[in-house]
This record gives sequence, structure tokens and C-alpha cells, in this order.
Amino acid sequence: MRSILFTIISSASAFLGGVSALPVVKVHPGDANDIIINSQNTLNATRAGPANSTTTVSSVQIAEKVALSPGQLPLSLVNNLGGAVNAYVTGLNSGGQLVMLQPDGQWYYPTCDPAMSAPQPINVNVAIALNGAKGSTTQIALPSYISAARVWFAAGNLEFFTVYSSATQGPSLVEPSAVNPSDPSAAISWGFVELTNTEVGGLFANISYVDFVGLVLGMSLLAGDGSTQSARGLQPNAVADICSLLEAQSAQDGQPWGDLCLVDSSGNPLRVIAPSDYVASHPEAFSNYFTEYIDEVWTHYTTNTLTVNTQAAAGKVACSVQDDLLTCSGDNRGEKFGRK
Ligand SMILES: *[C@@H]1O[C@H](CO)[C@@H](O)[C@H](O)[C@H]1NC(C)=O
Ligand SMILES: *[C@@H]1O[C@H](CO)[C@@H](O)[C@H](O)[C@H]1NC(C)=O
Ligand SMILES: *[C@@H]1O[C@H](CO)[C@@H](O)[C@H](O)[C@H]1NC(C)=O
Repeated sequence: MRSILFTIISSASAFLGGVSALPVVKVHPGDANDIIINSQNTLNATRAGPANSTTTVSSVQIAEKVALSPGQLPLSLVNNLGGAVNAYVTGLNSGGQLVMLQPDGQWYYPTCDPAMSAPQPINVNVAIALNGAKGSTTQIALPSYISAARVWFAAGNLEFFTVYSSATQGPSLVEPSAVNPSDPSAAISWGFVELTNTEVGGLFANISYVDFVGLVLGMSLLAGDGSTQSARGLQPNAVADICSLLEAQSAQDGQPWGDLCLVDSSGNPLRVIAPSDYVASHPEAFSNYFTEYIDEVWTHYTTNTLTVNTQAAAGKVACSVQDDLLTCSGDNRGEKFGRK
């Protein structure tokens, strides 16, 4: 049987000395009205949920099914942070319905009121409390196959919401946002692992880091043949260290690197977000960052040839800048390319 071990590596935060004078973003958690819904913090069912009550089997039947289910996935959650940590599991079941794991090991199928346009909080208990002792392990199991899943860890309580999706005529899950400083969960240190485990495709899991780093996590997979694969994650103090380095870089080049660091009201670093996510809500940021370099490249190709290997019938195509436009030989569409 395969199983996964997730380790919370991080010390939640180390106070950043003298942070207040430097550019960082202080979070100010809001409520449902402050949520910004986009593709990064939502999970949309592919089929209407929640299951009809008539299709709910009794707890005995579920227990039997779980014991036999090849989709069952044991997870060992190691709390190296020490203190209160909650885990949450979100995803889609094999029928495309939204699921969240409850502390009793059964799926909860989020619901929502189609009449409400604002996100509605999920009030069912979906927090799996980890033993607070440093180094302690909590064993859980996912009862069945799951895709587009996340296993979340938080040094506090995360707030999940639903909104009605007319596309699936069911709930769309609204998850905590790493990039919105007003998100209701903004002041909590959290992180997640992404996971898909399907009958046909197999098991995929990663510690992401595409959009942010927050609570530092590591993981290892124990395969059916006894071999293991590990992703060790960042150093325990990584978030504070990255914040310090970003601030130093801001001091050096005047670019808003420090604003990528989100801190709580006391200045403790919570997470570092990716520049592209920051630019999405601050279009002016870094706007001239590459201008000089682009100008240099443009000048270079007024006197030099840029060869584009199309890996298609056109073969290698010679391009150069003429009258401030990139022009390619043999271009049958008459297209010329400006510098942005
Ligand atoms: C889910 O649906 C909402 C609203 O229909 C949309 O804004 C959001 O981008 C969708 N999420 C994903 C991951 O596609
Ligand atoms: C719910 O039950 C009704 C009536 O039995 C049925 O028509 C419908 O397809 C069911 N919906 C789901 C999602 O199973
Ligand atoms: C991480 O894994 C999830 C689940 O399989 C997948 O959807 C996502 O694309 C992966 N992300 C990266 C960056 O590989």
C-alpha cells in the first residue's frame, strides 16, 4: 500500500528585526466581502454536488468500503512546528464533486445557497487538529480517489467559503488566498501540498511553490514496492530569510521586492508571493524592470540576425529589427512585431 508522509518543517516565523522601516506588506484580514475570487483560490466541481441524502450510505457501509477501496491513501502528518496546527484536505472525488475531509475520516460535500451571491462560510468542522507536540505524527487516510486536491497546514484556523456556480449548478469552493492581504485567513501562516490520486493516472503530489512560500513543508512518498521519494522543501527559516534578502534588494535597486513579503500585525513574516502575482494587482510594479535590457536586445538585432528555429516546415527563419519592428524573412502573413 502506498502512503505519503508530510512534514511541517517551518518555524512559523522569526521576527524580522527592524522590519517596520522597510517595505513589506502588512496583512489586514477581512471578511467574506474582502475575498477576491479568481482561478487561483477556487476549486470548481465538474459535476453538481452535494450528493443526495438518499445516496448516502450508512457509516458501516462506508467503513467497509474504505477498508476495501484501492483509492484509499494513508497520510502521516508530522508536526515539526510544535503547537497548534490544523490540516485540511480539499479536492474533487472521482465523480467530480467537491470534497473536504472531516476529522472522523469521512468526506464532507460542501453545499451552498444558490440565492446568495456573496461567498458563504463553511461552518462544518473540516479542521484536522494535529497533535501539538513537536515531532508528533498524526495518521489520517483519504477514503477514496481524489484530484485537484490540496492538503493544507495552518498554524491556526483557515476559513473556506462556497459560492454558487451556475456552470455546475453546485458549490464552487473558495480557498484562502496567498496574495490577497485582506483575505479572511491572511494573518495565519499556512501552506499546502498539491495532490492527485486517480485510478487511471496514479499518484502525483508536489510542494508547489509556484505562487508563494508560506509554512514550510516537506514530503516523502512510500511506494508499494517499499521505495521512497522525497521532496525536502525549504530550510525552516526560509520565509524570514527570503524576506530579508528581498528587502536588501529593494534597498539596492529601488524595485518593490520587499512588497512580496507579507507580514502579520507584529511584523512576523507569513509568506512570500511570486512577482507575477504581485504585478497582477499592482500593474505599475516592476513595469520598467526590463526596459533597458529590452532596448539593448532591440538595438542588437538591428545589426544582427535573430534565427528562429520553427521546428516546422519553415525551418530556420532569419529575423531582424527594421524601422523599430521585428521582421522575419518569408513571413507570409506580413506580421511585424513591436517591442511589447
Ligand atoms: C471557478 O468559477 C469561478 C466563477 O464561476 C471563476 O471565477 C473561477 O475562475 C473558477 N475557477 C477555476 C479554477 O477555474
Ligand atoms: C438526486 O435524486 C434525484 C431523485 O432521485 C435524481 O433525479 C438526481 O439525479 C439525484 N442527483 C444526484 C446528483 O445524484
Ligand atoms: C502539482 O500537482 C497538482 C496535482 O497533481 C497539479 O495539478 C499541478 O499542476 C502540479 N503543479 C506543478 C507546478 O507541477
